[in-house]
Amino acid sequence: MCVELFSLRDKVALVTGAGKGLGKSMAIALSESGAHVAVASRTRSDIETTAHEIQENGVKSIPIVADVTRQEDVSMMVEKVLTELKTIDILVNNAGTFLGGPFLESSVEDWHKMLEVNLTSAYLCSKAAGRHMVERQQGKIINVSSVLGLFGAGGSAAYCASKGGVVQLTRALAMEWAKYHVTVNALAPYTMETELTKSLLEDEKVKNVILSRIPLKRIGKPADLSGAVVFLASKASDYITGQVLCVDGGFSAH
Ligand SMILES: NC(=O)c1ccc[n+]([C@@H]2O[C@H](COP(=O)([O-])OP(=O)(O)OC[C@H]3O[C@@H](n4cnc5c(N)ncnc54)[C@H](OP(=O)(O)O)[C@@H]3O)[C@@H](O)[C@H]2O)c1
Repeated sequence: MCVELFSLRDKVALVTGAGKGLGKSMAIALSESGAHVAVASRTRSDIETTAHEIQENGVKSIPIVADVTRQEDVSMMVEKVLTELKTIDILVNNAGTFLGGPFLESSVEDWHKMLEVNLTSAYLCSKAAGRHMVERQQGKIINVSSVLGLFGAGGSAAYCASKGGVVQLTRALAMEWAKYHVTVNALAPYTMETELTKSLLEDEKVKNVILSRIPLKRIGKPADLSGAVVFLASKASDYITGQVLCVDGGFSAH
C-alpha cells in the first residue's frame, strides 16, 4: 500500500533544536508517523515538554540537553540516543538562529555565531550520527536550510551564507554517502510563525511585504513542514538525495 511508504513505525529519529518552533513541530510529526524521537536543545524545560508530548503518541522519546555547536555535547547526544534507543535512522539538523542587520555594522563575532549555530552544528551532528548510518548502510539526514540559502536578502548576509552552506553540505554529503544508501536532503522554508520571526511579524509593514512575496498568501505555520519532513524521513523518498525541498508558499517559484 502506498500509504505504508510513509510509515516510520519502529524507526528512531533525532531532532536538534526541538524545544520549540519548527523542530518541535517536526519531532511531533515524526512521532505521529510512528517514529521514536530523541529531541535536543539547550533548554531543559523545553525539551522535556517536547518529549512528554511525543510520548503521548505511544512512542519512546528522550530529551537531551545539548549545545549542538559543541563537539563534546554532540558526541554525548549521539551516544545517548544509541544507548537508549539503539540506533539512529533519521537525523534532522534543525537547530538554528538568526542575527540580522546591515552588513557594515555587523561584528565578526555575530558572523562566527551564525556559522557555528546554523552550519557547524549540521557538520558535527552529521559526522557523529552519519558514522553510525554509514556503518549500517542506511539512514536519512534532513538539514533545515532556508530559502535564504538559495536567494539573497538584505540585512541577512551571515544567515544567507550559513544557510547556503547547509545547502552545499547537503549536496556534497549526498554524493559521498549515496553508495552507503544514506540520503541527505534539505528543507528550505520561507517565513514561518515561530519565536524566531515573532518580532518581525509583529511589524505590520514588514509582515505585508513578506505576504506580498508569497503566492499562497499566508505566512507558514510549523505544521506546514510536517508532510515534507515525514516524506524525506520515510521510504517514500528512498530515490531522492541531494535535494532542497522549498516549503515556502510558492516564494521560490517567482
Ligand atoms: N521560522 C522561520 O521563518 C524559518 C525560516 C527558514 C528557516 N528556518 C530555520 O528553521 C530552524 C528552526 O527555526 P525556528 O523558527 O523554529 O527557531 P526557534 O523557534 O528559535 O527555535 C530554535 C530551536 O533551536 C534550539 N537551538 C538554538 N541554538 C541551539 C544550539 N546551539 N544547540 C541546540 N539547540 C539550539 C532552540 O533551543 P535553545 O535556545 O533552548 O537551545 C530552539 O529549540 C532554524 O534552523 C531556522 O534557521 C526558520
